[in-house]
Amino acid sequence: MGGFHRVCSIFDLDEGKVLTAEVAGEPVAIVCSQDSVFAIRDVCSHASVPLSEGEVEDCAIECWLHGSRFDLRTGEPLGPPATKWVPVYTVAVEGEDVIVAVEEPAEP
Ligand code: FES
Repeated sequence: MGGFHRVCSIFDLDEGKVLTAEVAGEPVAIVCSQDSVFAIRDVCSHASVPLSEGEVEDCAIECWLHGSRFDLRTGEPLGPPATKWVPVYTVAVEGEDVIVAVEEPAEP
């Protein structure tokens, strides 16, 4: 089902920490930075390695392989070599639950 999926508890998160989850078949990195929670597809747009293994700073995550940084708010690449945006997802916090919305592919 599409829509909202619980991925973790707000107490599992900490500044600069990255959790991973599979939501509707998509690998998602859940990131806490500057007191906000973000969800970004856990695949670098340059060479498809997991972004979740990179460093987080100032609402951006840095790919560990070649060093492109991506804005966690928009998925925009902030520096080379990556040029393509990475999908980001809507995050909501309901009580203790962190909820992520991922669109699923339409049924054939
Ligand atoms: S694989 Fe991420 S910047 Fe190259």
